Amino acid sequence: MSLSPAFLDELRARTSLSTLIGRTVKVQKAGREYKACCPFHNEKTPSFTINDEKGFYHCFGCGAHGDAIRWMTDQRGLPFMEAVKELAQTAGMEVPAPDPRAAKRQEQARGLHDVMTAAQGFFEEQLGGIEGAEARAYLQKRGMSAATVKSFGFGFSPDGRGRLKTALKDLGESLLIEVGLLIDPDGAEPDGDKSKKRDSYDRFRGRLMLPIRDIRGRVIAFGGRILGAGEPKYLNSPDTPLFDKGRTLYNIDRASPASRQAGRIIVVEGYMDVIALAQAGFAEAVAPLGTALTEHQIERLWKMADVPILCFDGDSAGQKAAIRAATRALPLLRPGMSLAFATLPGGQDPDDLIRAEGPAAMEAVLGAAEPLVDRLWKYEQAAAPLDTPEQKAALKQRLSAITDAIGHPDVRAHYVHAFRERYDALFFARPAFGGQARQQRGGGARPGWQRDRKGNWKPPIPPAGNEARAIGASGMEQRLLRAVLASLLRYPEQIALHREMLSGLRIGDAALAELLNVMIAASFGKETVESDGLLTILGQGEVYNMAKGMLRADTFTFTPHGSKADSDRVQRDLDEAIRVMAQGPELEAALAEATRRASDDLNEDSFAEQQRVRQLKLDHDRRLAELAQTEDIV
Ligand code: UTP
Ligand code: MN
Repeated sequence: MSLSPAFLDELRARTSLSTLIGRTVKVQKAGREYKACCPFHNEKTPSFTINDEKGFYHCFGCGAHGDAIRWMTDQRGLPFMEAVKELAQTAGMEVPAPDPRAAKRQEQARGLHDVMTAAQGFFEEQLGGIEGAEARAYLQKRGMSAATVKSFGFGFSPDGRGRLKTALKDLGESLLIEVGLLIDPDGAEPDGDKSKKRDSYDRFRGRLMLPIRDIRGRVIAFGGRILGAGEPKYLNSPDTPLFDKGRTLYNIDRASPASRQAGRIIVVEGYMDVIALAQAGFAEAVAPLGTALTEHQIERLWKMADVPILCFDGDSAGQKAAIRAATRALPLLRPGMSLAFATLPGGQDPDDLIRAEGPAAMEAVLGAAEPLVDRLWKYEQAAAPLDTPEQKAALKQRLSAITDAIGHPDVRAHYVHAFRERYDALFFARPAFGGQARQQRGGGARPGWQRDRKGNWKPPIPPAGNEARAIGASGMEQRLLRAVLASLLRYPEQIALHREMLSGLRIGDAALAELLNVMIAASFGKETVESDGLLTILGQGEVYNMAKGMLRADTFTFTPHGSKADSDRVQRDLDEAIRVMAQGPELEAALAEATRRASDDLNEDSFAEQQRVRQLKLDHDRRLAELAQTEDIV
């Protein structure tokens, strides 16, 4: 289905959100907005607001937030397309005809889902039958209540190569192979010798079966646990058109709504941990499926809570998994979004702990979860001896590698600060960098820059395939860019401080680009080249004249003309302006990509992501316009 962003915008614009929501809950006018008691959580005084102008609702109590489509999917529980259709009907709009390929894909997916539903029924039935006795005993031994067995959909795959194959033969062998329930021995070599065709057979034999469900509660895969000893302990479905391990979290369909009530999300290592937690009253737990947490899974967790708690085993494998997740999250960190780490005592997993000491012990472990910054600091501090000066310096290097990996500049700045404080406290009686506010990163380091044969520094060549456009496309952006360059000319000591970000800018206008390159090249010198010095380097010509003009008193800059301003303030303001400029093309590319994805494969996830990026872009444009219109913000 290809719905264009323009169509969805039009649909939102033509829908009165307060009227729509007013059909379900009582809304009251309050100034320019409407208020209501939040339908997503229990409350007596209204903290749910509706803004018709912006087309958004927001709950200050539970954080529920969205537009008309979101309301229909989240509150009414409609699938995305149904939501669009219903809104379009009310708004008197025609939903564009579906893309025949997408429709076909949907049709096929429906068939696959039917197969999984049938298989789930088969396994559950087997668990209740004669052959399920051993599996039932196993569940009892592990303390699983009847309610837990039912709600998690436990089943049993009888021991035999063709049990499921026979029971579900009406559904067709090829579908059963496609969803991973049958193994096709010739599948790996489809063009092999056809004359020696071998039979397909049941993947899961003699195992306790656990259905893996998607966010909408549909079974998309299975995990099968061996009943006694043996290898592998857990056998999982392979990746199929329904199941992508790296994008799935076990129990997400239950944990997602529960996380809203609980205000947190817990990540554990295994299926059984999730189930033991649920039985002990912690419904807000998920687990990856035997693999390290992926970026996609981390983003998914952040939709449920700002700071997911990773509760991994205290053994070395568990701790390695925790650090791997921490490292993977660094480029994704954003203001307010982080991870916390709860460590289980000696060799236990959550299932063991709850059985040995009960839910209160588990709650205590969760309550003692450490922030990401502490976990990383402790890990690096313990990673190697710190006796010699070289070893101490090596710790600093490892910490720099961590902060370099953080994508968001504000978050990165705070990590740099936090690590420096701890490092100084550890090795120096008094702060070593006191007084000198900012430390230059390795005097000779010029990321991406290369010397030419004459020994002059040349700027990095932008990576090929970089889709982002150059800076300066909009009038606002051009105006902001000029103001930044004028400020840098006026305060040349600022150039080195912002060099990394400045080097990353792709500038459309050749003269402005040259001016910036000259300034960056000059900033590598031991001493700051003053404004006049920069003019001298430029020689005579177009760029020189432009730069001279920029130094005139009536030019728009960020920095005060005349007396020198507070340099910290100048640095902060420039930092924001440069960052905002750099983000423009990136966000544009991200929005184009998210929109493309959403229209290629429209579902709640891709739609929510497109909405998120769109909002970031809108916020960005607003800030850019503000910055480009403020004279002398210092
Ligand atoms: P564990 O070995 O820690 O198992 O694997 P567990 O969760 O404690 O299971 P029980 O309590 O012995 O039943 C943790 C997770 O790693 C994946 C599974 O997702 C499991 O839940 N795993 C483990 C596999 O995929 N295959 C295996 O052979 C083992
Ligand atoms: Mn276990």
